[in-house]
Amino acid sequence: MRKPGRQEDLPLIDRAHFLPAALRRLFRPRSLDPATGETTYWQRIPGIVGPARHSEFTLIGQQATREALEAWIVAHSGAGTRLLDAGCNTGVEGVRLIERGFRGTYIGIDSNPRALAFALENLAGMPAAFALSDLARTPFPDRYFDIVLSKDVVEHAAGFEPILGELARLARDNVVLSMFIKMSDGPDEIVRHRDGYYLNRYQRSRVAAFMGGLGFGAPHTVFCKHEDEVLSFSRADS
Ligand SMILES: C[S@@+](CC[C@H](N)C(=O)[O-])C[C@H]1O[C@@H](n2cnc3c(N)ncnc32)[C@H](O)[C@@H]1O
Repeated sequence: MRKPGRQEDLPLIDRAHFLPAALRRLFRPRSLDPATGETTYWQRIPGIVGPARHSEFTLIGQQATREALEAWIVAHSGAGTRLLDAGCNTGVEGVRLIERGFRGTYIGIDSNPRALAFALENLAGMPAAFALSDLARTPFPDRYFDIVLSKDVVEHAAGFEPILGELARLARDNVVLSMFIKMSDGPDEIVRHRDGYYLNRYQRSRVAAFMGGLGFGAPHTVFCKHEDEVLSFSRADS
């Protein structure tokens, strides 16, 4: 666990230098990758995905799933923990985690600028910061975060490898992977929605082997019910 301290000079957004100019910039869809000019699906959608405001956060679904992953994170963290919420949307998990006793620093990454604008409002005054980035290519150094959480994200990508590989690179100790399409023993089922995102069911052994190849031990099941599945992967050398 890290000692609390000054953030290094990274492209984090916090309230102090966010409004109002950055707010206008964030709402304008633009490429996250100057090299390729690519934007993600999540930048182009007109709406946001999750509930927008703090007052709506108690009404969301997957309560048992969320409570299980939150309890795991609170139990495995402390004041010095730097937590990444990869695909943070409007900051639901940031707010919920802090309300449930998370004492570290919460950093959310998302490529949906509108959702991030709400996240900034929802976590105003809390130990939180955000970055607008594609999760497959983030600007953070190796092992920058003690714990990396990603909930309901990799199933929507064309394949799990680009995002999960990047999350593994960023994690010093643990990756908590929560999926709403439970993995199976069969081959990957790749299902492309007509709007351009995916609803994939991945092969359990392939995901475990992929993480194993990146230095993580076998997954531990944090929660599993209906279609929801939460796994934790710990670095073999930590
Ligand atoms: C279904 S929502 C889940 C939101 C939140 N994690 C939760 O469970 O409440 C997926 C989120 O991941 C973000 N996302 C998906 N793919 C992404 C990518 N390649 N880069 C950055 N964010 C991404 C979307 O913008 C969206 O906010």
